[in-house]
Amino acid sequence: MKRFILAITGASGAIIGIRLLEELLKTSEVHLIISDTASKITLSETGIDLSTIAEETLRKKFNTDSLFHYDNDQLWAPIASGSFKIDGMFIVPCSMKTLSAISNGYAVSLVERAADVTIKEKRPLVISPREMPLSSIHLENMLKLARLGVCIAPPIPAFYPKPATVQEVIDFLVGKILDCMKIENDLFKRWGGKT
Ligand SMILES: Cc1cc2nc3c(=O)[nH]c(=O)nc-3n(C[C@H](O)[C@H](O)[C@H](O)COP(=O)(O)O)c2cc1C
Repeated sequence: MKRFILAITGASGAIIGIRLLEELLKTSEVHLIISDTASKITLSETGIDLSTIAEETLRKKFNTDSLFHYDNDQLWAPIASGSFKIDGMFIVPCSMKTLSAISNGYAVSLVERAADVTIKEKRPLVISPREMPLSSIHLENMLKLARLGVCIAPPIPAFYPKPATVQEVIDFLVGKILDCMKIENDLFKRWGGKT
C-alpha cells in the first residue's frame, strides 16, 4: 500500500481536497493535515465541521483504518521527518500563504515542514494553488517550486469533457491531480481526438 500526505489549507475549494481524500483512501494510506483556516472554510463552503474532528471519527466517516490525522502545529509528527518514508504529498487546495512559505523554506506549520521535507528528499509534491487573479508574487513562488520539480496543478476546469454538474468538475480536477502523482484513475473523460 502506498503512503501519501494530504494537506488541505485555507483556500477556497476544500471540497476538492475532501474528494481527493476519498479517492486516495481506496488504495493508499493517507496522513492528513487540515490547517485551522481550512477547517473554517470547509465548514462555510460545505457544512462539514472538521475543526474538532478526531482521527477515530474520520476513520469511521471514511470507513478505513489507513487514515492518520495531525494538527497543523504537531511538528513532532512522523511526517515532519525525512526518515518517515512517504510516496508523495498533495496540498489541495493550497493557499498563497502556504505556497509562499514553502517556496521560501519557511517551515513553521506541519504542512510547511512536511512539504519542505518532501522537496529536500526529492519525493513527488503536487500542489493545487488557488487564487484569482494571481499576482507576480504568487507566480514567482509557483515558478520557483515548478523548477524544483513540484507539480503545480491549480483547480482550473476544462470544458472538453462537457461537465454537466459541479461534481463532474470536481472529479475532473481530482483526476488531473491524481495523474500528476501517476495514480491510475478514470474520474474524467479523457480527450481522444475528434470522432
Ligand atoms: C473564506 C476565506 C476564503 C479564502 N480563500 C483563499 C483563497 O482562495 N486563496 C488564498 O490564497 N487564500 C485564501 N484565503 C486566505 C487564507 O485562508 C489565509 O491567507 C490563511 O492565512 C492561509 O493559511 P493556511 O495556508 O495555513 O491555511 C481565504 C480566507 C478566507 C477566510
